Amino acid sequence: MKTIKTQVGIIGAGPAGLTLANWLKQQGISSVIIEHRSQEYVQARVRAGLLEQNTVDILKNLGLADRLVKEGQEHHGVYLNFDGKRIRVPFGKLTNGRNITIYGQQEVVKDLTEAWVNGGETLLFEAPALELDGLETSSPKIHFEHEGEKGIIECDFIAACDGFHGLGRKSMPKDAYKEYTITYPFSWLGILAHVAPSSEELIYAYHERGFALHSLRSEKVSRLYIQVDNDDHVDNWTDEQIWEELSIRLGTEGWKLNSGPIFEKSITPMRSYFIDNMQHGRLFLAGDAAHIVPPTGGKGLNLAVADVKHLVDGFTDFYKNNSMKALDNYSEIALKRIWRAQDFSNFMTTLFHKQYEHGSFQYQLQKAKFDYISLSEAYATTLAENYVGLPFEAFG
Ligand code: FAD
Ligand code: DHB
Repeated sequence: MKTIKTQVGIIGAGPAGLTLANWLKQQGISSVIIEHRSQEYVQARVRAGLLEQNTVDILKNLGLADRLVKEGQEHHGVYLNFDGKRIRVPFGKLTNGRNITIYGQQEVVKDLTEAWVNGGETLLFEAPALELDGLETSSPKIHFEHEGEKGIIECDFIAACDGFHGLGRKSMPKDAYKEYTITYPFSWLGILAHVAPSSEELIYAYHERGFALHSLRSEKVSRLYIQVDNDDHVDNWTDEQIWEELSIRLGTEGWKLNSGPIFEKSITPMRSYFIDNMQHGRLFLAGDAAHIVPPTGGKGLNLAVADVKHLVDGFTDFYKNNSMKALDNYSEIALKRIWRAQDFSNFMTTLFHKQYEHGSFQYQLQKAKFDYISLSEAYATTLAENYVGLPFEAFG
């Protein structure tokens, strides 16, 4: 039986767990991470790519953004399409110079893992957390398995950064929280392709055949998505069909979509989910463990990093001042931004997806919103400030 003692036991080596560990280290607080999957699996998992200004600033302040600054692409605006009409929302003027950066989630995960492991810290891969106990005491424990051996992490706090299907939320008593959820009647088919992006900025498009998004990863790699039915499967789509559909849905006069070899295809279901309490005793949840947003607007990863900021504030207060006050306020503070992001992600999702008959009343409402963005600087500002992410001070 392996026993590890640390101050904060972290479950999950996704963006939330890795950011937390590296940040706590900078504050002189020790932690250990255990991750269910292998390093290869975690680092090959293709997910988000849009980093808010807050996230980039945090990684820079931690000294962990060298490659992000070199390889990430800062964007100063976003294109929006509706029925083939394209408008641009510029960020600079509307958000006091705040921007977004495109840099793949798995690159963030690689950078943070490397910094942690090269700094001599402990991160056990293929080490699932099996059970948590002592959550209501000052010495909670994580029971885990690694290389066929059982182990225990003895710590002061447990941070469950273990994603939507993790153990953390399941270990809270059912009456400790209320859960809220929306399941959408569509999914995203996402691709990565070896082809130069067809636009220097992202394009979100409503089309009567369904939503499409043009994003990118580098000068040579494009990332694109189309709305599909929930029961669809990647095998139902040839590469030609995907390019054809993207070209129709993203199309606007005088613009051409580049196509090239597709090297990754996957389908992601869409849901909005959150719980109204992210703490039970000495257990704290962060990131997807506590909330999911539909990906339209790219908030998932950024919310995970924002949770971590509040957790670090709480742990720092505890170890400096021996006070649980900030930690006990964690849910309340984090939930302000979570609600905002839930609303924005739902707004972007319902604005750009095909859910209602073309020409119907609901469709006209979607179109009215789009038209309003193009004619009102106030409305465009609302979209822009949510898209680049509100500063921490905005929530008090
Ligand atoms: P995760 O990244 O899920 O990390 C949790 C980690 O915990 C995982 O590595 C998991 O293996 C580990 N774990 C789970 N259980 C245990 C256990 N018992 N013991 C030990 N470890 C455990 N967001 C966007 O903004 N845009 C997108 O395009 C987008 N696409 C997505 C596609 C998919 C398929 C998914 C699932 C999510 C997507 N997201 C997207 C959301 C975004 O990627 C997440 O919000 C982000 O990964 C949250 O980070 P996290 O650290 O909270 O959770
Ligand atoms: C990406 C994903 C999103 O969900 C989004 O809104 C913008 C960009 C991306 O993967 O690049």
